[in-house]
Amino acid sequence: MWIRNCWYVIAWDHEIPAEGMFTRRVLGEPILVYRTEGGGLVAMQDRCCHRHAPLSRGRREGDCVRCGYHGLKFDARGICIEAPGLASIPAKTRVPTYPVVSHNKWVFVWMGDPALVDRALLPDNFSCDHPDWAYKPGYVHYDTPYLLVCDNLLDFSHLSYVHESTLGGSTAIAQAVPKIEPVPSGIRVTRHVPDVPPSPFWRSFQSFDSNVDRYFIYDFVLPGTLLMQSGGAPVGQPPGDLRGGVQLHSCQTLTPETETTTHYFFQQSHRSSIRDPAVTEAIYRGLVTAFEEDRETITAQHRNIDDRTPMLLLAMDQALVRFRRLLQQEVERERAATAAASAAPAAIGTMD
Ligand code: FES
Ligand SMILES: [Fe+2]
Repeated sequence: MWIRNCWYVIAWDHEIPAEGMFTRRVLGEPILVYRTEGGGLVAMQDRCCHRHAPLSRGRREGDCVRCGYHGLKFDARGICIEAPGLASIPAKTRVPTYPVVSHNKWVFVWMGDPALVDRALLPDNFSCDHPDWAYKPGYVHYDTPYLLVCDNLLDFSHLSYVHESTLGGSTAIAQAVPKIEPVPSGIRVTRHVPDVPPSPFWRSFQSFDSNVDRYFIYDFVLPGTLLMQSGGAPVGQPPGDLRGGVQLHSCQTLTPETETTTHYFFQQSHRSSIRDPAVTEAIYRGLVTAFEEDRETITAQHRNIDDRTPMLLLAMDQALVRFRRLLQQEVERERAATAAASAAPAAIGTMD
């Protein structure tokens, strides 16, 4: 279940080389991304229209790509401008291209109707590119459908158990009931966890001599992006006073690679000690360890799911149910719009 008229992250900006080509599959389609000599980005289907060889196995020629099989040459619009041995080039000799944009270090592709491209739908992943925040970018590949990973991010009660010795450290996280509210294109989940020991993760980059009040406030927006303020302060400090505590901002996003595999781009920015690379590295390492815990759990869950037996919905599933409902509504809206668009020419045709 995917929507197409939205932005999906295909890569971190640093993954796209200044020269050469980058390829990754999104929504089942192989996509080639490269930079033009003027610094722009091009995203085109990584499948030659002739015999379907991957264009990424060919070579760059200026802002064009030449297929490495029989030599067709395509410009940045995907139009074939050279076909060795052909007297003329059929007009349909072209490969699809996709709107592509780099925004705060994430490279996004628009997989739907180019006429509906909307930059206002780009998520506010500000801390991926902000001088007051530091982080190290991360990526995990999942052999599971992307919605299972969305489910995981929409219910932090799992921190107490999956991440008992990393991000969690207390069963109080699972016991705290989150507040769930609608936001444009998603939901906001707010969870406060008072008077708990600092997590082992926090202790890996900072020392504490008391319990802390923790908070997690995040928006989870279509198609699958988490934008989170989280942290906490020693117990007893007034609200908002984070001295001696932790302040983090995390941007995480899920891109379906295929029906059953997923790209997971993540980072967690910190605001104090931003000039200390050891802190940034410790936070990154902590997340890599924790996200491997998630991956192992979700992969085992995926293998274990029995479609003949319905899952049991519980109160803790409220956020993921609401998000899935939102996604379903968008999928149906897109289907209806596509059906209406394809019906329109037929209606005009009957008038002739
Ligand atoms: S497959 Fe690309 S030119 Fe033949
Ligand atoms: Fe997790």
